[in-house]
Amino acid sequence: MNETIFTLHFFYVISQQTIQQIQSRIDIIEIIGEFIKLKKRGANYLGLCPFHGEKTPSFTVSPAKEIYKCFGCGRSGNTIGFLMEHEKYSYVEALKWLANKYNVEIEETAVSPEVKLQQQLADSLYILNGFAGNYFKEQLWHSEDGQANAMSYLKERGFTNPTIEKFQLGYCLPQRDAFAQTAIKAQYSTEYLVKSGLVVERDGNFYDNYRGRIIFPIHNNTGKIIGFGARVIGKADKAPKYINTPENEIYIKSKILYGSYFARQAIDRNDECLLVEGYTDVISLHQAGIENVVASGGTSLTIDQLRIIKKYTNNLTIVYDGDNAGIKAAKRGLDMALEEGLQVKLVLIPDNEDPDSYVNKVGADQFKEFVKENKKDIILFQLEISLKEVGTDSSKKAALVNEMAETIAKINKVEDFTRQQDYIKQCAELLRIEESGLVNLVNKFIREKVTKEEQKQQAASSNEYSEPSGFEQPVDDFEAATLLNKDELQERGLIKCLIEYGQKEWDEEQKVADYIFYEIDDTGLFENQELVQLFLQYKEWHEQGLEPNSKSFLYAENRMLSEAILKILDMKYELSPNWASHFDGKIPEKDALYKEETLSTLLYLKLRKIRKMIEENQRDLEKPHTMEELKILLETHKHLKDMETELTKTVGSVIIR
Ligand code: GTP
Ligand code: MN
Repeated sequence: MNETIFTLHFFYVISQQTIQQIQSRIDIIEIIGEFIKLKKRGANYLGLCPFHGEKTPSFTVSPAKEIYKCFGCGRSGNTIGFLMEHEKYSYVEALKWLANKYNVEIEETAVSPEVKLQQQLADSLYILNGFAGNYFKEQLWHSEDGQANAMSYLKERGFTNPTIEKFQLGYCLPQRDAFAQTAIKAQYSTEYLVKSGLVVERDGNFYDNYRGRIIFPIHNNTGKIIGFGARVIGKADKAPKYINTPENEIYIKSKILYGSYFARQAIDRNDECLLVEGYTDVISLHQAGIENVVASGGTSLTIDQLRIIKKYTNNLTIVYDGDNAGIKAAKRGLDMALEEGLQVKLVLIPDNEDPDSYVNKVGADQFKEFVKENKKDIILFQLEISLKEVGTDSSKKAALVNEMAETIAKINKVEDFTRQQDYIKQCAELLRIEESGLVNLVNKFIREKVTKEEQKQQAASSNEYSEPSGFEQPVDDFEAATLLNKDELQERGLIKCLIEYGQKEWDEEQKVADYIFYEIDDTGLFENQELVQLFLQYKEWHEQGLEPNSKSFLYAENRMLSEAILKILDMKYELSPNWASHFDGKIPEKDALYKEETLSTLLYLKLRKIRKMIEENQRDLEKPHTMEELKILLETHKHLKDMETELTKTVGSVIIR
């Protein structure tokens, strides 16, 4: 049990007080309303789901429960969850966004020493990188060597002064420790210098790592330098062409998109992101006025990079060299990109050029024209490649036709109908088959898919009452309670009582929560481990003197808790405010019944415990025993049976299995 509590303990960077302050101000309708249009519908609000394409709104927001749920795609969560999903914020970023919105001053409290150290380390690295960036810039612009070697090389490649300034390019002198000495004199610790990759240590001496190289600072989204790429001047014969910052606290290769800081606005404007391989590709395209471009840095695309792109736009255009390596790299990223829901196009630059050399060769207008004309849908691109592989082998070709039909069948959303038609047309042309034949084949796959989905749905609906999910009938509903006479419902009922009424008065001496904890001292009785976690977390908070409520869970950093609480809260069958007037104000106030509800829920669980004990006892009885043992077991049995009868009576008219 202690172990469980321990894993639930999190170090908050933002103080609990601040979080509570933020929580108390959150207006979920206002927040979500900033991103999507919501219309009032009864007690809830309705809008088009931002997480999946839809034409009829099924995205529901409950202001009372402070949760949202899409009945189309099933996504649900609280305000913070929404910000995390929609804006791709981290938990802390979402809190900070809300704090800023509601003018809540953020109080940061004791974090674990490790976290603190990590933050300090990151801050130090940013500061050091900023210092180094300035130093290298200075050397490029104002040292004789920088001008003679580096600047002349950059000019030779066609980079203009404003471009060099914008990307903060620099130069590291060829002397072995010019930068290291400057940094050490400026009080930078050698430990950080080494960690940053700017300096290497050999036999207790510190040397510049990027000697004689052009420096390309790499920025994060807020414009801070997280690391560097350092290129040799001219041809790379012996040494590697680029040296990069080693992975450290702030330079995490899989999450870096070079140029994203400079591209963000243009990506917004164009609703498209161009992806190239190299630093110089990004810079040259910028100089040519094409600013919605980022670079993957020569390695194959990672899912994290795609997610960063997805934050800005759904349209990704990969602009790679036409060589085989480029094609392979592009293909690898495809599946991931499609999975992330990105519309991916591909342009291959011809004649052994890369985007940098090509734009320099043909100029901005022609480059743009080329991209526009040669942008290929990634699915069609794959088809073209496959066709080349298939050649004249007719059985291989048949397999390919099938494969394409299946892929096309996957796009069957109403709004993508035209897209699907286009694919059929173009694929039929490329495959040199009858369009109508391909239509039939695609339809066959669609039918298969629909049948499968129907079967799935049927299975799901016949399970409707045995598979409790987030938004079904509330547990305290009489009908539900009789229909769904399941162990888990009873457990959920208890957690609901705890969360809803826990801080209410039980009697003069204790609160409802105290009474529940007194009665339930053994979570072994619970089947559902998620509920156990909620139970234990409530207990921990309660014992600390906090007054937990559903929001405490809803906004807990531990997502497991907030997801578990979502399943207990419900919004579908909420009383509409009009009901009270309907009934002339006579509907019983749920509030007044909280003690009965708690008591009966506890009784259920007690009864269950007793039945478990009876079963165990019965199993024992079946084994061979001495007369004495048998007597005790039979007495126990009778005693338990009496208790069961008693409890059943108390529970009253509610039918129990
Ligand atoms: P230029 O040759 O100056 O035009 O640079 P480029 O950016 O076009 O380089 P290239 O197309 O050869 O490589 C694309 C990207 O891969 C570069 O921008 C680097 O991020 C990365 N890269 C290339 N060569 C190396 C290398 O030797 N080491 C490392 N770490 N990265 C490299
Ligand atoms: Mn290049």
